[in-house]
Amino acid sequence: MATFKAPKGTYDLIPPVSVKYLAVREAISAPLRNSGYGYIETPGFEDVGLFARGVGESTDIVSKEMYAFETKGGDQLALRPEGTASVLRAALEASLHKQGNLPVKLWYSGSYYRYERPQKGRYRHFSQVGAEAIGAEDPALDAELIILADQAYRSLGLRNFRILLNSLGDKECRPVYREALQSFLRGLDLDEETVRRAEINPLRVLDDKRPDVQKQLVGAPVLRDYLCDACKAYHEEVRALITAAGVAFEDDEKLVRGLDYYTRTTFEFVHDGLGSQSAVGGGGRYDGLSEMIGGPALPSVGWALGVDRTVLALEAEGIELDIPASTSVFAVALGEEARRVLFGKVTELRKAGVAADFSFGGKGLKGAMKDANRSGARFAVVAGERDLAEGVVQLKDMESGDQTAVPVGELIDTVRARLA
Ligand code: HAM
Repeated sequence: MATFKAPKGTYDLIPPVSVKYLAVREAISAPLRNSGYGYIETPGFEDVGLFARGVGESTDIVSKEMYAFETKGGDQLALRPEGTASVLRAALEASLHKQGNLPVKLWYSGSYYRYERPQKGRYRHFSQVGAEAIGAEDPALDAELIILADQAYRSLGLRNFRILLNSLGDKECRPVYREALQSFLRGLDLDEETVRRAEINPLRVLDDKRPDVQKQLVGAPVLRDYLCDACKAYHEEVRALITAAGVAFEDDEKLVRGLDYYTRTTFEFVHDGLGSQSAVGGGGRYDGLSEMIGGPALPSVGWALGVDRTVLALEAEGIELDIPASTSVFAVALGEEARRVLFGKVTELRKAGVAADFSFGGKGLKGAMKDANRSGARFAVVAGERDLAEGVVQLKDMESGDQTAVPVGELIDTVRARLA
């Protein structure tokens, strides 16, 4: 007999915990839906070239972590490791950017796949809620997104997170900095792989967590000193707008991010209760991505927040979300006729918008009342042959324990009135 388990690095969302994930997705998307972002859904896989070109051939995400495969028809595809490239691809394909309504503001929620070494907070299948504002170079848009993410986390009750902010410069000033950093790195004593990385993607070396590397990086040129006037002014405006909104952040000139498409504003949300996988979300501006994947110039900005890590952050802060019981009324029928009558009443209650459930499986009173308790329902409706003979059902308040007989025909109105 074969027994199967969830693949390594994945896990199942199962009640009652799964309801937290729904609540987190809801809480993250609510501020976006309230701010002009439209919902977009794209396929779970794309042409592998989209990510290779968009996210960057030299990133870990593309070079090591991508689930790439060839289909029976010979197409080279990859499970999406992130959402930005797909969303921009979809917007370009649908010509959303040509309708004179820039920026195009979109939000999404879905599963992403990275072949990473699994550990707490790092999975091979995880979910993000993300937002992309496409086609406008406006510091207020960067600020809007950072403020909305802050609002989302706060609405969940999270407090122990920090916002790290940086600017990576643009196509004018970054190459100059890159050059300066590269010549600095060439003078260091680094292992072969890091030397290679320094040539392909020198900024990533700054992100190296190893102490011996970090020690050598003291005195490395910092991007801030190389930012051109336009980038500096842009960044100052973003900072001023966030500050004015009362959102606290920390300047972090070492913040590089693991994707190649970023320009100017980059930010990360880190939670201090999560250990090494502390980034609960991240994003930034990607003014060159559209051109990298064959589109016109469309300066854009966005973020994605990790749902899995946000749930871990809630646990780390001991936050219990106030999630109302999903069932308001639980019907317990004793005997065949009662089953027929109460099943009909449950259907009526549901149609009337009352969340109702039924004791299935022909259980006795004791077992069925246990189910009623477990459901968290405010009321149990109990009926047996004798009740029905009198034309009533018993309505039991599960909080107070009070029980009253209610005429069958008045059940729906009575329940609705008492729930209101
Ligand atoms: P990212 O920083 O790669 O950015 O991912 C965003 C968030 O997804 C992370 O902060 C983390 O919470 C979560 N995440 C990433 N990998 C994993 C994993 N293996 N297990 C659990 N959670 C994970 C992006 O994906 C960009 N597309 C964000 C963006 C949107 N930039 C601009 N627009």
